Amino acid sequence: MSSDTLTHILELARWAPSGDNTQPWRFEIVNDKQIRVYGNDTREHILYDYDGHPSHIAHGALLETMRIAASGFALASQWTISSPNDDRNPIYDVRFESNPTMVRDPLFNSIEVRTVQRRPMRTSPLTNHQRKALTDAAGTNFSVELFESLDDRIRIAKLLWHSAKIRLICPEAYPVHKDIIEWRARYSKDRIPEQAVGVDPATARLMEWVMESWERVNFFNRYLMGTVAPRIQLDLLPAICCAAHLLVKPKHKPAELIDWVNLGVTVQRIWLTATREGLHLQPQMTPIIFRWYARAGRHFSKEPGLFDLALKLASNFERLVQSPQNEDFGFFARVGISQQPKSRSIRQDLASLMKA
Ligand SMILES: Cc1cc2nc3c(=O)[nH]c(=O)nc-3n(C[C@H](O)[C@H](O)[C@H](O)COP(=O)(O)O)c2cc1C
Repeated sequence: MSSDTLTHILELARWAPSGDNTQPWRFEIVNDKQIRVYGNDTREHILYDYDGHPSHIAHGALLETMRIAASGFALASQWTISSPNDDRNPIYDVRFESNPTMVRDPLFNSIEVRTVQRRPMRTSPLTNHQRKALTDAAGTNFSVELFESLDDRIRIAKLLWHSAKIRLICPEAYPVHKDIIEWRARYSKDRIPEQAVGVDPATARLMEWVMESWERVNFFNRYLMGTVAPRIQLDLLPAICCAAHLLVKPKHKPAELIDWVNLGVTVQRIWLTATREGLHLQPQMTPIIFRWYARAGRHFSKEPGLFDLALKLASNFERLVQSPQNEDFGFFARVGISQQPKSRSIRQDLASLMKA
């Protein structure tokens, strides 16, 4: 095996998803059998990166993508965490072993095609085959629950509507939203391009103008029902227009970094499986994240009342999916059939992702 092969593997692995396309990783090719991944998280400036866990999930997605990519070069691979006590800057070592009998992973072809779909999808129901593929992809340590009926989708649409309100009126979330959208773009290397956000061009222009300052956002929200148009387009309609919502639950309470990374491994297997099954997927993590804050008793905003809204959201979520308060939720998404999105996040070049 040569370092060229490892470069090919990294070229594929960098297509792994990460929250807001942050790509919280840098790579080093240590030798022709080993890659080191330097992870980071964004908890200090991104409200949604609750204790870094969404970044840890992305790390897991990256490591699983690397494993699947390696199988295409007849390489078996294994990763270990080399810095178990540092979940802010975790280091992962991935070792590769040549294995001529290795069969290419059936998810290999989905690595580059997989992309998030934020627009409404068809409501055609899942086939039994798709249902089984998605639930099997959860493996033994996680479970997948599917919510498919129109009634369930409407109830989830209402949940997302309330979650979006918190998101849009929370001053601490504003800088995140302002930074992550690349306006007037179809592709973005390090953010989300406007056209992949899921709003129509007129709403996009209005959002761009309003999001120039928090004062404008606040004024619009208070007096002009500014959260209504984006919430209809980004939350309500997509939640109804899909085949199913999918909730991933860990069977054991995540306690350490490795548990969150393993959740990410599973999330990527589910997402790539959805792609292979001809489905698209959109994570909808904000209700999960606000529930994490609420159930941990953590006040995430200086705005009075938002914590109580998050508590109410958590109870509604639990009632909807019939789970007790102390049950853990790991990942929430909707799936369905749609055309391949015309706009997507792309990635930083490999050269920029190599450790300096
Ligand atoms: C842990 C995690 C959380 C995410 N949360 C959301 C979300 O709440 N809403 C959303 O639209 N996309 C979400 N995404 C999707 C990312 O924004 C997307 O993967 C990234 O921008 C790269 O785009 P791509 O998946 O099309 O390659 C999430 C992805 C990950 C890995």
